[in-house]
Amino acid sequence: MNVLLDAETIQARVKALAGEIERDYPGDDEIHLVCVLKGGFIFMADLVRAMSHRVSLDFIAVSSYAKSTKSSGEVRMLKDLDSGLQGRHIIIVEDIVDTGLTLTYLQEILRARSPKSLRTACLLSKPSRRQVDVAVEYIGFTIEDRFVVGYGLDYAEKYRNLPYIAVLNEGD
Ligand code: IMP
Ligand code: MG
Repeated sequence: MNVLLDAETIQARVKALAGEIERDYPGDDEIHLVCVLKGGFIFMADLVRAMSHRVSLDFIAVSSYAKSTKSSGEVRMLKDLDSGLQGRHIIIVEDIVDTGLTLTYLQEILRARSPKSLRTACLLSKPSRRQVDVAVEYIGFTIEDRFVVGYGLDYAEKYRNLPYIAVLNEGD
């Protein structure tokens, strides 16, 4: 396993992102963060702790339909949000944007719930894999087309606990 982004590098970038987000929202407005499970949970935990702004949070879980065509981007809702989004500033917190299909679908679902604003924060982006042009306002790191694990990201549900991000090699 080759470390791509070490823990210190990630921590520094997440703190910077938190600062960027806070500067973009007017003082008293609450920001409601929607974490996409499971991959987004570590990023979310570090991001909210780096924010001094008033934040609330919720969790959503989706899974791609295994058998549907890859290009449909249709996802199955495994866990919906606990509270409504109407009139609130929402930021989707996701681990990685790859083809962009999952995020496009999620943004559509959430936008239909009439939030005051809707933005997206992704720790990682693989632009070379993009199939749809999806808006991601906050990106931690742009990476090459490699399969990565750690810091929330998994391979077959493993490696989510690593404090760094690594490229998975054959035989790992
Ligand atoms: P998209 O719909 O192709 O953008 O899919 C994004 C989802 O695929 C992410 O939320 C991850 O769960 C998963 N994914 C994409 N690339 C990787 C990777 O390199 N490592 C682990 N999971 C990944
Ligand atoms: Mg994910």
